[in-house]
Amino acid sequence: MPEHFFITGGMGCIGAWVIRNLVQNSVPVTVFDLSNGRHRLELMMTPAEIAQVNFVYGDITDTAVVAQAVAHSGATHIIHLAALQVPFCRANPPLGAAVNVVGTVNVFEAAKAAGIRQIVYASSVAVYGRKEEYATRLLPPDAPLHPHTHYGVFKQANEGTARIYWQDDGVASIGLRPYTIYGPGRDQGMTSTPTQAMLAAARGESYHISFGGTNGFQYADDVAKIFIQAARTPFQGAEVFNLKGAVAHISEVVAAIEAAAPGVRGQITHEEQPLVFPDGLEDSPLRALLGNDIADTPLAAGVALTIDHFRQALADGRLA
Ligand SMILES: NC(=O)c1ccc[n+]([C@@H]2O[C@H](COP(=O)([O-])OP(=O)(O)OC[C@H]3O[C@@H](n4cnc5c(N)ncnc54)[C@H](O)[C@@H]3O)[C@@H](O)[C@H]2O)c1
Repeated sequence: MPEHFFITGGMGCIGAWVIRNLVQNSVPVTVFDLSNGRHRLELMMTPAEIAQVNFVYGDITDTAVVAQAVAHSGATHIIHLAALQVPFCRANPPLGAAVNVVGTVNVFEAAKAAGIRQIVYASSVAVYGRKEEYATRLLPPDAPLHPHTHYGVFKQANEGTARIYWQDDGVASIGLRPYTIYGPGRDQGMTSTPTQAMLAAARGESYHISFGGTNGFQYADDVAKIFIQAARTPFQGAEVFNLKGAVAHISEVVAAIEAAAPGVRGQITHEEQPLVFPDGLEDSPLRALLGNDIADTPLAAGVALTIDHFRQALADGRLA
């Protein structure tokens, strides 16, 4: 059966990279999103590439609309990314629960009705507790969960939803937990400021990153490729895997920015206060599943690619 990918939240950062990868490999794609803002797609795709995408505008909280969209799309694969990020869930917890929790239930329900046997969905590092709650620096996927935000609690609920759809209905799933994603298109959310600093550097401007400490950094294109690879990997069960990427201090991100944009040397600064999360995540179970050659761009290369991308987009008017 020819592949057809159904991407929820496809107008977002990871979604745009997923769509770009699929379209550039001539794979049919349906995007389901409440937003029709195409700025992220336009940042990374040509108008001819965007014209190949089937857009469905709808609300993930609407059970019938999601079921209808999946059924009509003829999807063979589902990547579920639609969600409200930490600040939006904090500002409006009931809406966050509707989008992140009910929305995820709706996607599983739609898959079940359409006979789609496997889903890949985004969980998050936010399901874990604070770094001082753990004895190890890099957390394995089975480290105890103890979220400290509504967003993290909602993501934990998604992981439970996935488990029950496997148990009760045989819908298999792979949940992936990214940490701090960076790259073109990463323009909102609590951990988007390293990417904002890369954009500022491309403009030759100063920037102050809003946090410090050591984190896991993942290049957005790598994350997209891993989601696609997971969706294509036949799977039985409902497992959740961590993404590792580069475990680095924010000062290393600043150094990579300065190396790629020497003109802003000394002008990219950061808060000292670290994020509450652990230093990094362990991804050996994911590598055991997908192979050791999963997309894993080194930090300095990913930062340089991002700044180059922004420079090009600024030069040809794709970024205001
Ligand atoms: N960006 C990160 O660093 C990061 C880290 C961990 C987990 N994640 C998770 O990965 C996924 C994708 O992240 P992203 O950075 O691309 O997020 P994003 O905020 O850029 O995109 C989310 C998309 O969901 C859509 N959406 C929101 N409400 C909707 C609704 N009611 N109906 C339909 N669509 C709706 C938005 O319009 C947006 O296009 C999310 O589930 C996020 O929680 C992201």
